[in-house]
Amino acid sequence: MRSVLPAVLLGLLATASAADQERPWSDTSLPPGRRAQLALDQMTEQEKLTLVHGVIAAPWGGKPRPEGSIGSAGYVPGIPRLGIPALQETDAELGVANPGDVRPGDTATAMPSDLALASTWNPELAGLQGQAVGAEARAKGFNVLLGGAANLIREPRGGRNFEYFSEDPLLTGIMAGSLIEGVQSRHVISTIKHFALNAQETDRVVLDARIDPAATRESDLLAFEIAIERGRPGSVMCAYNQVNGSYSCENDWLLNQVLKTDWRYPYFVMSDWGAVHSTARSALAGLDQESGEQLDTQNFFAGGLLQAIADGEVPQARLDEMVRRVLTSIFAHGLADEPGASEPADFAASDRVALAIAREGTVLLRNQGLLPLPGSMRSIVVIGAHADRGVPSGGGSSQVIPRGGIAAKEQIGENQAVVFDPGAPLEAIRLQFPHTRVDFDDGSVPARAAEAAAKANAVVLFADQWMTESADAQSLNLPGAQDQLVEAVTRANPRTVVVLETGGPVLMPWLEQTAAVLEAWYPGQKGGEAIAEILSGAANPSGRLPVTFPVSEDQLPHPKIQGDPNGAPSGPVGQGGLYDKMFTAFYNEGAAVGYKWFCERGEQPLFPLGFGLSYSTFALSELAVKVSDHTVAAKATVRNSGDRAGTAIPQFYLTGPTGANILLRLVGWERVDLGPGEQRQVAVSIDPRLLATFDEGARRWRIRAGAYQVSAGFESQHRESNATFELQPASLPP
Ligand code: BGC
Repeated sequence: MRSVLPAVLLGLLATASAADQERPWSDTSLPPGRRAQLALDQMTEQEKLTLVHGVIAAPWGGKPRPEGSIGSAGYVPGIPRLGIPALQETDAELGVANPGDVRPGDTATAMPSDLALASTWNPELAGLQGQAVGAEARAKGFNVLLGGAANLIREPRGGRNFEYFSEDPLLTGIMAGSLIEGVQSRHVISTIKHFALNAQETDRVVLDARIDPAATRESDLLAFEIAIERGRPGSVMCAYNQVNGSYSCENDWLLNQVLKTDWRYPYFVMSDWGAVHSTARSALAGLDQESGEQLDTQNFFAGGLLQAIADGEVPQARLDEMVRRVLTSIFAHGLADEPGASEPADFAASDRVALAIAREGTVLLRNQGLLPLPGSMRSIVVIGAHADRGVPSGGGSSQVIPRGGIAAKEQIGENQAVVFDPGAPLEAIRLQFPHTRVDFDDGSVPARAAEAAAKANAVVLFADQWMTESADAQSLNLPGAQDQLVEAVTRANPRTVVVLETGGPVLMPWLEQTAAVLEAWYPGQKGGEAIAEILSGAANPSGRLPVTFPVSEDQLPHPKIQGDPNGAPSGPVGQGGLYDKMFTAFYNEGAAVGYKWFCERGEQPLFPLGFGLSYSTFALSELAVKVSDHTVAAKATVRNSGDRAGTAIPQFYLTGPTGANILLRLVGWERVDLGPGEQRQVAVSIDPRLLATFDEGARRWRIRAGAYQVSAGFESQHRESNATFELQPASLPP
């Protein structure tokens, strides 16, 4: 039978196949690297240059938003002639940001902070969060998410800790990697950042982080390594700071040697915004794309790269490699194959994920029998932290304008404001306690709040700590007069639960006076509901701390934050810039970050990593270790010894022989839901790198001979049982 296709359709098919022939790189059956090479072969020098630098996608320096950009943190124009899409880049970590309302009125789901997500110890939820944020980004037309933050929480006062996961490399690597995997399942490139050692905001652009390279491999870099293996992010963002004397974005050791050689990373390195300081040095050290170039003191790549090639300072092959890496990532993540194939975002799914994270990520730190609050209570007073309006969020580039609108704003200084996400805890508590009178006091006058507290059956006192990119906390005390508020209220009514909404650990001088403490972090726009469910017992708390809470700042490796909190800008610097004095920070604690430092020093924290209570109780038994070659597996039995269903998170830790420098390492965990009396076997297989120390000279992991010990418990400080085993010396394959 003859074809009855209309001529116009036949014409279209013919054009499509001609285009396919002209564009052999559009063949999705070819490996991404091959497709990249085929496209690269067709490019002019100017087209190549297009892909190795980008601009801020917002009005800037008197110029309008760059043509073709949607409006966001970054934009790299595409090459329509070759079917290469533009990179529309958005922040990031906790939802799709809208800086300066550049997309007027555009909102997104405000997810809980990464600290809340990490407190779930639930990689599946991290994947779901990635999927939800990736889908929202995609629906808005973005194809690069500037998120997947895998920095370790090395400095507990760090301004961006709420965007980071934990102080442990395994926990951080697994959670960040899962998030990245989720984002990329939506055909959005995820950008792991800030590579590396952007541990504090103080002096971040003029800070030289000095640290032993091997210790870095065992700590901050291991977190990135695990996250990259697990999530395969399409791009890596190098950080503002220097590492051991050279800027992260021109650091040959970090980019060329560790990332691209040792880890065989196949995609591209983009700079942080304003983090580039040179043309040839950066290009030769492994930077593939200069981002937000208006923030740099010069357009180092757009303005200087072709000249540097002409002058013989940078080989042509290096520009080709940069472009090949960008293209490989574009093809590997489907950016060229699913152009604009955006489905509308499923906000109901986003809400479910946000609620689940807030529920599972809230950590019960203390409970003297007050929680769950009985539904029969006559009166509750809710106090403080705008709990009648919403929940706080962190500031900076990750700031989301929440769906439903900003619930409240609290001005901090002239230019900054705390943004409160909707979902008022007060309202949610009223819904959970329909038979109880629930009043509110804003907490601004401690004496008045105390008076209200004295009259109520129980008090739910909200206390918050606002943290933001570009600034660290000056101390770990709750800001303002909140410590005094807690003192006054708990004195008036000891039946007080303090709900903390913080961007990291805080000190609790009033702890003993409270009946209960919940750490809710920045819980996102479903956080109010989650907190209310936990207070009533509708949800059983299951979060565990991903970071150590010290008793005092004197216990930290750096009792005072390093650097000058008032001295340096957080914006662009460099030759001809605003500030040319570097500050050196010595991270002499090396790999002993957080709980490892406390273990090394024999210090007792206020609350250790891994800690969190439940309304149930759990017991561990039958710890056993099996070794074959250098594969070590550990198992144990966990039992719910309480009378209600709950979630246990048994954790496995490793201690090495003398000289191995392994005092205590988290080597695995499982999250298990158990009915009353139920028991289950949990098992982990230990990543061989966690059994080893890094030999920087040989660029290899080495296992020392000797007696090792695995211990199991429900927190890092006190473990319930341990088992020993012997290992023979070995080098792990690179
Ligand atoms: C931040 C990055 C962010 C970028 C783009 C920088 O200031 O450090 O995390 O992705 O801005 O907004």
